[in-house]
Amino acid sequence: MSKVSIRAMDSVREIADSIVDCVGQTPLVRLNRLFANSGISVLAKLEMMNPGGSMKDRPARYIIEHGLRSGVINADTHLIESTSGNLGIGLAMMAKTYGLQFTCVVDPKITKTNLEIIKQFGANIDMVTEPDEQGGYLKTRINRVQELLKTTPNAHWINQYGNELNWKAHYYGAGSEIVEQVDGPIDYLVCAVSTTGSILGFSRKVREAFPNVKVIAVDAVGSVIFGTPAGPRELPGIGASRVPELFTPQEIDEVVHVNDMESVKGCRELLEYEGIFAGGSSGSIIAAIRKIVPAIPKSSRVVTVLPDRGDRYLDTVYNEEWVERLYMKNSQDHTLGAFNNEPRSFYFISEQGRYHGTGRSIL
Ligand SMILES: Cc1ncc(COP(=O)(O)O)c(C=O)c1O
Repeated sequence: MSKVSIRAMDSVREIADSIVDCVGQTPLVRLNRLFANSGISVLAKLEMMNPGGSMKDRPARYIIEHGLRSGVINADTHLIESTSGNLGIGLAMMAKTYGLQFTCVVDPKITKTNLEIIKQFGANIDMVTEPDEQGGYLKTRINRVQELLKTTPNAHWINQYGNELNWKAHYYGAGSEIVEQVDGPIDYLVCAVSTTGSILGFSRKVREAFPNVKVIAVDAVGSVIFGTPAGPRELPGIGASRVPELFTPQEIDEVVHVNDMESVKGCRELLEYEGIFAGGSSGSIIAAIRKIVPAIPKSSRVVTVLPDRGDRYLDTVYNEEWVERLYMKNSQDHTLGAFNNEPRSFYFISEQGRYHGTGRSIL
């Protein structure tokens, strides 16, 4: 029988005053198995371990506490934000804890799970239903926010795409923690992007400590952030249909675009090899690192951030039928083969262009 080594337990943490105090201090984990034999070291900051389930707990907390300290937010404030995802959940959790009103402007594309979680925290849901001229809901949601700002007493807009406090939350948060936790100079920082707040915050802090770091953004195929054409994309969290006001492209050294199917595969690999059950953009990151490994020097130290947990993706990334439908939609794309010839049991798209579900690869 092969031996299994068991880790000693660490001492318990001190008592927190509220769930708000549990934001942050997330672990940095070496992805030893996934990138075994690659020669590079990949360290992943598990921002998914924040209490609301994602890295968006950081800006939710930071923006609200900054506002409370400066007086921009007080007990009568009614927070407004357009978000269908993790920031909505983070804000709903913070609003509940601080006793603030929060209205979350969402559209019909929000997942049932996210809608339910935001409601459970007691936030108001304001659902827009009219698509804009592009067929999406972005403009309609922004218009609705503007209306609410005029008609809601003591309204305060969080404005994640343009709020400088968004990147600062990540600069003082996970960015600082990464610099403290890492075991040597960081050569590459690889992050998924949407508002770009997190990549800007992390990279500004990391560059202070390691000026030679290369910052690599992972964006979705179909996102317009880096000037590529808009297109259909299914995974929430990663990508954007407009360029965020916060974004400063000159701070990004490279961008890797990843499609939905590659992201699904990355998620399955993360689960299979590392036992990490993560959301869609974490899979995008794994796919992107796979793409850059052949081009970077051996012995590089790569740091990444895994933004959220897999639970909210049980109906998508981890659902057979959903993946099958996605595959059918994208069936003209034959770039989705396995990365190597080793037979492994994970979800797999063969070079012959068929989805196999779990099982051994047949390359
Ligand atoms: C799961 C997930 N990954 C990545 C991102 C991108 O982060 P940012 O908006 O800071 O660019 C988000 C943002 O909502 C997210 O929810």
